[in-house]
Amino acid sequence: MRIVITGGKGMLGRTFQGILSEHELVVADLPEWDITNAVDFNQRLEACHADAVIHCAAMTAVDKCESEVDLAYRLNAIGSLNVAVACHRNNVRLIAISTDYVFEGTLDRPYHEFDVAGNAHTVYGASKFAGEELIRRHCPNHLICRISWLYGPGGPSFVHSMMKLADGTRPVLKVVDDQHGNPTSTFAVARHLALLLKHPELVGTFHLTCEGEATWFEFAREIFRLAGKQQEIQPCTTADFPRPAPRPLNSRLEKMMLRLCGLPPMPAWQEALAEFMQQEFTRI
Ligand SMILES: NC(=O)c1ccc[n+]([C@@H]2O[C@H](COP(=O)([O-])OP(=O)(O)OC[C@H]3O[C@@H](n4cnc5c(N)ncnc54)[C@H](OP(=O)(O)O)[C@@H]3O)[C@@H](O)[C@H]2O)c1
Repeated sequence: MRIVITGGKGMLGRTFQGILSEHELVVADLPEWDITNAVDFNQRLEACHADAVIHCAAMTAVDKCESEVDLAYRLNAIGSLNVAVACHRNNVRLIAISTDYVFEGTLDRPYHEFDVAGNAHTVYGASKFAGEELIRRHCPNHLICRISWLYGPGGPSFVHSMMKLADGTRPVLKVVDDQHGNPTSTFAVARHLALLLKHPELVGTFHLTCEGEATWFEFAREIFRLAGKQQEIQPCTTADFPRPAPRPLNSRLEKMMLRLCGLPPMPAWQEALAEFMQQEFTRI
């Protein structure tokens, strides 16, 4: 297949370039490809004769979205609309990447794909949800894949931040222990997406986070255990670290669609993290 990856130079896009190497890949990122330019994007896609677009491009700086609201909607909503319209016009399957932030984050169990989204507390979440809705309306042949707590080669990610902070200069690190999520490796997402690509009959929304759950504190503890670091950590609360964009307390996503479609489950987060730590931080 010929696959166009928007935001292909970003953290997730770079992993797709490796995992999907059996396909012919077109890395569609700035400055050549700009998803906010509808006419240009459509022309480029038309010229490509692509079979699929994997849409990763987004404004992902969650706190910056709060102060740059127009930019967030221009990229996450209108950019996604432009990609959706171009895909539909050119008969190209669209696989778009979204986020747990589309949910309110207050439910006392993991959110599944049939739970109502759209009550996001952040501009990032609301603009990504607007993008999802525009994709549903303008490109019927789509998959929307929601992920969360993502880390991958090169970062930036929580894993990279923790490894940097544990440089021996801080006796104790405080880590938030009242937010719950599914730490998720870009490798795990890319491998499952490679599988979904082989099923053209699949349409709709899929959650693709790793199995099992953790708090940031538990995630950090596992990072340091795997890295063999003696860094002391202390649990703290969300209130101890106020941020411009309020973080959801519940980011956990249930993979109901994978189950209902008879597809294999995502790997356990500890297993995926161990593979990643080995590759990213073991230097010979
Ligand atoms: N990272 C996470 O924790 C996380 C969690 C859940 C969901 N997601 C979703 O996963 C997807 C990929 O995330 P990521 O972490 O790989 O993001 P990323 O590293 O920020 O990559 C996004 C890429 O899109 C590019 N881009 C920005 N504006 C563009 C435009 N107008 N046209 C074309 N490309 C543009 C960026 O270029 P510049 O760098 O030059 O701006 C960057 O290369 C996003 O849709 C995000 O919402 C991420």
